[in-house]
Amino acid sequence: MQRLFGKVALITGAGRHHGLGLAIAERLGREGAKVVVTDIGVPATDLGSDRIGTIAEMNTVVDELRAAGVDAVACALDVRDEAQVQRAIATAVEHFGALDILVNNAGVGFLMEPLVEMSRERWQTVLEVNLMGAFLCTKHAARRMIAQGTGGRVINIASVAAKSGSIHLAAYAASKHGMVGLTRSAALELGAHRITVNAVCPNHVTTGLGALQNDYRAKQRGQSVEEYLAEMRGRIPLGRVGLANDTAKAVAFLASDEAQYITGEAMNVSGGQEVH
Ligand SMILES: NC(=O)c1ccc[n+]([C@@H]2O[C@H](COP(=O)([O-])OP(=O)(O)OC[C@H]3O[C@@H](n4cnc5c(N)ncnc54)[C@H](O)[C@@H]3O)[C@@H](O)[C@H]2O)c1
Repeated sequence: MQRLFGKVALITGAGRHHGLGLAIAERLGREGAKVVVTDIGVPATDLGSDRIGTIAEMNTVVDELRAAGVDAVACALDVRDEAQVQRAIATAVEHFGALDILVNNAGVGFLMEPLVEMSRERWQTVLEVNLMGAFLCTKHAARRMIAQGTGGRVINIASVAAKSGSIHLAAYAASKHGMVGLTRSAALELGAHRITVNAVCPNHVTTGLGALQNDYRAKQRGQSVEEYLAEMRGRIPLGRVGLANDTAKAVAFLASDEAQYITGEAMNVSGGQEVH
């Protein structure tokens, strides 16, 4: 299916193997979109350098996408830096002539600790990456889409933690709840320009971030990771945890013409785990 033929998509936090961002880039590319793969690229001491993407990994990911027939380009982007956001959007336009689809996927969800122990700085880091980053990217992508006059799509990767609380992830859950507020507000403002804005809310997927959460939760309960995952599967009506491709398929649908009358939604992709 080439539902996105000729469209240009920019995806944040997409430069890591096994991540949702890469699965989204692959899927949009397979459906005909040209993709700008972005990721933070350089070490950031507040995030833990081993947990975020490097330039080398992002370049490898882009080489692999190209080898699979996807028209892709890499671009370093720390979503907290407004000048870098503007540069990334300019890169999309320079390489591919337009920007039609923005996927706000960059996020940190591995900084887990009890609320009563969380520092102000830690709170701020999570909110800045997960929520302010999505705001900055939406602002500048929407400016470009409005100037183009051809409509557009903004898709925010939230979480089931955007609908319910999450133990030892207070800042993360607050940022993802905030992302839904951003989604709804942006949908109201941008609808006049035929730009739809939606969020996708996945449950657990064993990505880099997901694996770190599993390790933490299993240790907290005195379980092995496999025991913890088995218990989790038991709570999911469809009987398995999420796959990166479950989210990628939902994003491709929301990016396509088939979803042209859907905006302001926060769609669960959780096997029935989250139902509101
Ligand atoms: N894995 C899950 O269980 C799960 C569930 C629901 C939602 N999500 C969300 O999906 C998104 C992708 O996460 P993932 O699970 O693929 O993990 P991941 O760690 O593979 O991906 C997150 C990406 O964000 C990047 N990043 C971190 N800080 C950044 C910054 N300042 N600027 C730009 N990029 C930055 C990282 O380098 C990484 O590539 C996140 O927003 C996450 O909250 C994940």
